[in-house]
Amino acid sequence: MPRERARSFAPGRVNLIGEHTDYNLGLALPFAIAEGVSVSAVAAGSQAAERVRVHALDLGEWDEFELCDPSPAPGWRAFARGTAAELARAGFPLVGGQLEIEGALPRGAGLSSSAALEVALCIALLELGSSDRSWQRGDFDRLEIARLCSRVENDWVGARTGLLDQISSIFGEPDRALRIDFLTLEIDPVPLALDGWRLVLVGSGEPHTHASSGYNERRAECARACELLGVASLRQATPESVQLLPVPLSLRASHVLGENARVRATVAALRAGDLPAVGTLLSASHESERDLFEVSTPAVEAAVQRLLGAGAAGARLVGGGFGGSVLGLFAPGVDPPPGAREVRPGPGARALEGPDS
Ligand code: GLA
Repeated sequence: MPRERARSFAPGRVNLIGEHTDYNLGLALPFAIAEGVSVSAVAAGSQAAERVRVHALDLGEWDEFELCDPSPAPGWRAFARGTAAELARAGFPLVGGQLEIEGALPRGAGLSSSAALEVALCIALLELGSSDRSWQRGDFDRLEIARLCSRVENDWVGARTGLLDQISSIFGEPDRALRIDFLTLEIDPVPLALDGWRLVLVGSGEPHTHASSGYNERRAECARACELLGVASLRQATPESVQLLPVPLSLRASHVLGENARVRATVAALRAGDLPAVGTLLSASHESERDLFEVSTPAVEAAVQRLLGAGAAGARLVGGGFGGSVLGLFAPGVDPPPGAREVRPGPGARALEGPDS
């Protein structure tokens, strides 16, 4: 017997450093945050066992589709349909029912509201459809679920994103960032011992959407750089070889190589408790995103300047770019500008217990 009810929560993420490295099989250092998306699911009676009805509470919108054959749809509906379809294709038992989505994550803020939505939907549907397996007990292969959610993003939503957001949301841990190696898919929690320092976010005021921003174009440029270099991924490229590429491919590839090195250096600085060095690395990452990868905008630059002007030890654009949020690191006793929001690493996605589940 499948369950009658299930509830799930999946967090957004902040990427401390390591941007546009995931689909280049490089390194990143994100952490899950407290804000995220929750989904409540109630199984349908036997007559409607094949239908799913979804209510996006904050938008006041509905969707309805057949479990066995969801057709593509634009906007948020692509997430629910895609998640159900990919779970079914992967052979997970599913039952129809009613889903309610509730989210406290701003969309387009570069905090991975999309992955939080996919992962929360996935866990709710997995729990609802299966009586003998549980997310909490670890009965599902979490990397497989991260890949499945990423297919939803790639094939249903149309954004050629990598695995950064889904892995961050699923594997997040309190007080730790995750050093992810996208070549081996090794995930190594690194204590984020801030010792009185604060990480804060400010919005650039400019929402971004991956499918329509230059994100897919950047990804294509990296793929073209690999083709010209004759390597399977930029992980195999050397600083000397990328200089021989034509502009702008040489710039894109240099960013990726430099960013991998900065992730390694940030992990070392954190382990040594050297927060000023972390600040310097964050700013270097931003300069590379701006000048080499060219994903910044005037509104993002203004947000970076606000943070640096207030005394941040370092500041950088987080996420895919072309808008979104900027992260700043502040030493003890230095006050972030008004409107900045402190962020800390929190736990990863979970099935929620309680009267409803
Ligand atoms: C977005 C994508 C991720 C990653 C980042 C850039 O968040 O969803 O896969 O590529 O941009 O680091």
